[in-house]
Amino acid sequence: MTERTRLTTTETVYEEGSWLFTVRDQYGEPDEVLLVPCEDESDGPVEAWINRCTHEAQRFDRGFGAPMRDGQLVCPKHGSMFDACSGYCDNGDAADTTLVSVDLAVEDGAVYLTDDSYEFAHAGSIEDGGTEGAEGEGTDEEGRDDESDDDMPSSTSHIGF
Ligand code: FES
Repeated sequence: MTERTRLTTTETVYEEGSWLFTVRDQYGEPDEVLLVPCEDESDGPVEAWINRCTHEAQRFDRGFGAPMRDGQLVCPKHGSMFDACSGYCDNGDAADTTLVSVDLAVEDGAVYLTDDSYEFAHAGSIEDGGTEGAEGEGTDEEGRDDESDDDMPSSTSHIGF
């Protein structure tokens, strides 16, 4: 039995045009996965692809949604277009390649991650999960005055009688 994680709904993927989330692979390394609408009845209604072009390590969705045109995913770097249903590209620099697919299940309008190779980390891009790092920096600024009177002129106020 495969463990599965509920990601979102097919409705959200269609409304937003695409839906990005972050996974961890077997080695614990983060990667991004893109859900896209696939209108082809035999495949759809939603497909999942690793958020990276096959030509160069270019992300399709760079944090503002994936560029799509006529059911195709468009690489923002050199413009190759990939079929959203099959992942196949027949044009431009990425011609004759196929995107890396991620296994999904769709049930009652909900989309589940069922791929054994990936574990769900969080919604959004890899960076969206790293907010703790930014907070860490702020705490350093509250340095206590007792420890910071090296050359500070204000430290003269400590001279007592
Ligand atoms: S990086 Fe995508 S086509 Fe070149």
